[in-house]
Amino acid sequence: MILEVNDIEKSFGGIKALDGVSVSIENNTISGLIGPNGSGKTTLLNTVSGFLAPDKGTVYFGGKDITSLPPFQVSRLGMTRTFQITRLFRGMTVLESMLLASKTQDDGLFPVFFNRKKLMETERRDVQKAVEILDFLEIEHMKHEYAVALSGGQQKLLSLGMALMADPRMVLLDEPVAGVNPTLANKIFEKVMLEKEKRTFLVVEHNIDILMNFCDIIYVMNKGRIVASGTPDEVQRNETVIDVYLGG
Ligand SMILES: Nc1ncnc2c1ncn2[C@@H]1O[C@H](COP(=O)(O)OP(=O)(O)OP(=O)(O)O)[C@@H](O)[C@H]1O
Ligand SMILES: [Mg+2]
Repeated sequence: MILEVNDIEKSFGGIKALDGVSVSIENNTISGLIGPNGSGKTTLLNTVSGFLAPDKGTVYFGGKDITSLPPFQVSRLGMTRTFQITRLFRGMTVLESMLLASKTQDDGLFPVFFNRKKLMETERRDVQKAVEILDFLEIEHMKHEYAVALSGGQQKLLSLGMALMADPRMVLLDEPVAGVNPTLANKIFEKVMLEKEKRTFLVVEHNIDILMNFCDIIYVMNKGRIVASGTPDEVQRNETVIDVYLGG
């Protein structure tokens, strides 16, 4: 197991956003997380990636206890995430955004500022890597455009690309295809599928059909709890899921 979440709880005032959530994820798989609005999906990603500390429970990543570690330490251990609302910087090109993503995820870079030659070498490698990823995502031709000028779907691809810059072992994706047309949405999931050899994915998504096509395991949340999990086939036949999520 690359990720083990054990009995996590998280409350906001009186709202129990996570009420005893446990999840075990195997290496080189794609896991889907579905559930109605407000069921706790984003809160789960936030507690796993260090953006929120859980009130109770533990998170193990690659066998290491990462409960309550800050995001930069979690990302240094090889886990990156994307956000439900794509955050791109104004005035920055696609390529610059990719380069920034690699820098912010690698604070070990600081010492190279004292060594110009090494810095230039690092930059050259980062640019090459960024271009390769953009090419893989089929937005390489947009590399000198402003990031905010991309279409919604292309912005989603860019945020996936930014997440890949650190070469993470695990990627958490929060609604990577929300608002994207079905053709591009499928393409984004096909890209994720191609990366499965190298990494593990946990994907929050409302579109159950797309999860059924691409996930190995699906977790279903409702009111802060996992109410069902299993293969797409198992989940599709689960009575609780049909009642709670598929609307009877
Ligand atoms: N920072 C916060 N402060 C207060 N309440 C919060 C906070 N974050 C989430 N909540 C509450 O926790 C519950 C779970 O929210 P969360 O964002 O995790 O749901 P979600 O499953 O991601 O929903 P959606 O599908 O709409 O994105 C909701 O009731 C929400 O209002
Ligand atoms: Mg959410």
